[in-house]
Amino acid sequence: MAESMSALVERANEVIIGNYGRLPVVMERGEGAWVWDSAGTRYLDLFAGFGGAILGHCHPALVAAVQKQSGRLWHVGNTFHTLPQIELAERLNQHAFKGQAFFCHSGAEANEAAVKLARLRGMADGGKRWKTVSLHKSFHGRTLAMIAATGNPKVRDGFGPVVPGFVNVDPLDFSAIKAAADDETACIIMEPIQGEGGVNLFPGDHVQQIRHLCDEKGISLIFDEVWTGCGRTGKWFGHQYFTDSAGQVIEPDIMTLGKAIGGGLPVGVMYAKPQIAKLMVPGKHGCTLGGNPICASAAATVLDVIQQENLTDNATTLGEKAMTRLREEKRISQKVAQVRGHGLFLGIELRQPPRQIVERAMEKGVIINLTAQKVIRLAPPINISSDELDKGLELVIQTIAEVEPA
Ligand SMILES: Cc1ncc(COP(=O)(O)O)c(C=O)c1O
Repeated sequence: MAESMSALVERANEVIIGNYGRLPVVMERGEGAWVWDSAGTRYLDLFAGFGGAILGHCHPALVAAVQKQSGRLWHVGNTFHTLPQIELAERLNQHAFKGQAFFCHSGAEANEAAVKLARLRGMADGGKRWKTVSLHKSFHGRTLAMIAATGNPKVRDGFGPVVPGFVNVDPLDFSAIKAAADDETACIIMEPIQGEGGVNLFPGDHVQQIRHLCDEKGISLIFDEVWTGCGRTGKWFGHQYFTDSAGQVIEPDIMTLGKAIGGGLPVGVMYAKPQIAKLMVPGKHGCTLGGNPICASAAATVLDVIQQENLTDNATTLGEKAMTRLREEKRISQKVAQVRGHGLFLGIELRQPPRQIVERAMEKGVIINLTAQKVIRLAPPINISSDELDKGLELVIQTIAEVEPA
């Protein structure tokens, strides 16, 4: 007889560090937008593993890419080139600005690499620019430097002294950003949409001001696209929503990727304009398994599937439909303060923090997330069907309607 879920959870609690506050559920398999636990219960996954499973679970093209590459070459040192890395970087050039890539395993590592590169640039011309300006409510990862960059003091609790050189300011107050960006500032880092902070969008003219400030002062602008990259928002990359008065996309100097780019495998990318990227000469940075052929070929396939299946459009169409439905739904109108987002990156801000809403949604068979105390986050696979999303939204609406305040 199969081992019960509670027995498995007990085994897990004995041997796995408890840093995640996990639900007592053991997930066993997945297909498309669905996952099954080890007791056979099926859930509609409207959060895709914090956005990583952007094409859902076990997409046949990803399974085939991993199978093919795993029979060919797993790993060689980054003292050699491999075709999957070249193809992945070429795809990024196709869908973003012209740039060069460094590969690692996670969003935090990609951001670390970005800040290191910005510091190299800040010192390259004999300057002394080494500091990073970041924004309140931001999230950039869990390494020692990235908890300093993250604009949420809770993540630093217990880990002091904090790495110096990071200044957090009000995200929407341009004069505060300008005042913080002094002659020692190497970079400004921001998410095109703040994810953990509550799916917070930025006005385009604000971003344009930040871009101008960076240009004036030789500061590198880093867009942390770990959440917003790879079609999630309905554009290839979230920053492509920002345009200047001539309609040109406002580009960063450096973009970082994680989560979705690997389709669920560990891939992080630091992607920079060539004139800055060239400062990363041998010996300055590295990652032993970064860009390993299996992960890189999966990542290139993720981008190919997004293109072939026109999934940016799917995210836009379904996201708009979902937002309209959630805004018009009478059963929850008293409880919802605002519905916002782009594409299939949606935030439903409640008026009150809800009690155990994630657990209540699971009981109904749908996986959601709660962030910033009262913002329900939905980030389903971007190839989810309209029917599946409708079904999931109905369960989300029922959950919101029933849930008590915390
Ligand atoms: C915007 C952003 N940047 C960076 C990270 C860190 O990514 P990882 O957990 O892969 O290190 C996250 C994780 O949630 C994120 O949301």
